[in-house]
Amino acid sequence: MLVGKPPDIPSSEITPKSAYQQYVNRRHFLRGAAAVGAVALGGDRLGGILAPRTRVLASTKLNTVSSPLTTTGEQLTSLEDITHYNNFYEFGVNKDDPAKNAGALPTRPWSVKIEGKVAKPQTFDIDALLKLRPLEDRIYRMRCVEAWSMVIPWVGYSFSELIKQCQPLASAKYVQFLSYYNWHVEPWGSSETSISWPYSEGLRMDEAMNPLTLLTFGLYGDTLPNQDGAPVRIVVPWKYGFKSAKSIVKMKFVDKQPDTTWNLQAPNEYGFYSNVNPNVDHPRWSQKYERRIGLPFYEQRRATLMFNGYGDFVASMYAGMNLKKDF
Ligand code: MTE
Repeated sequence: MLVGKPPDIPSSEITPKSAYQQYVNRRHFLRGAAAVGAVALGGDRLGGILAPRTRVLASTKLNTVSSPLTTTGEQLTSLEDITHYNNFYEFGVNKDDPAKNAGALPTRPWSVKIEGKVAKPQTFDIDALLKLRPLEDRIYRMRCVEAWSMVIPWVGYSFSELIKQCQPLASAKYVQFLSYYNWHVEPWGSSETSISWPYSEGLRMDEAMNPLTLLTFGLYGDTLPNQDGAPVRIVVPWKYGFKSAKSIVKMKFVDKQPDTTWNLQAPNEYGFYSNVNPNVDHPRWSQKYERRIGLPFYEQRRATLMFNGYGDFVASMYAGMNLKKDF
């Protein structure tokens, strides 16, 4: 069984202590090393070298509760890989660019505006959003359309909890997510790509209401590092990673399928639904297998799972759809 239901999961599996302990030890080590190094050498150049890790450490511990909606039994991807192998094109096109550049993202004050077809349009301050519901530890597999994958211990609560606060009208059929965009803060987005910003993604209402869809504020028990989409992102574990918009500032409830960044860029390569599916290849590469980041070379390759292994929770939403055509 790939996703545990409540009675099956011992709490030791939900929050693997060893992983957290290793992480905490590493944080203490790096904090000490950074302080010693800074005093010994000083200067801006050193600041640049230490910057990515310093930003990872700039996080705050979150109070969390365990969750039944968590993946069990798989080795967690290291914090180092989760924070230094990223796609965040506003901050550059290389995997290590977001760790280098996303320190510029101003994550406080931060608010998320909710508008469109809802009875209660409103703007939430990030601290109010953090307090809206208990924050859960949820370990999810993450599968990128580029055929790499990770296992990430996110922190958040079901997006449906926020949706309920806004009371969508019957005419609300989709929700669109818009990411923060400021040319002065993120010049790489326009100098290195032809993407039309801000980053936009969307879900159908039933997908948005699915309990697995996670409004995400942290990982490994701390607030999100900037490069992973601070201070709030969405995580949709049965879809390719590009559906999981980072650093969200606006959510619009709409009656028509919204435009989404990658679908606009290359409609024949990236569909709106983008459910993980080993039977629908990307036009330029196979989706049958994936590469698990951080494992020894001979253990990396593994078969892609339909709906990334979350079919029990989500397959019924697509009954009757032609998943090859509406990919
Ligand atoms: N959100 C924004 N705003 N900008 C992006 O470039 N990249 C997407 C998604 N969300 C992206 C984004 C892609 S392609 C992936 S695979 C995931 O974020 C990567 O998330 P991670 O870097 O935290 O692993």
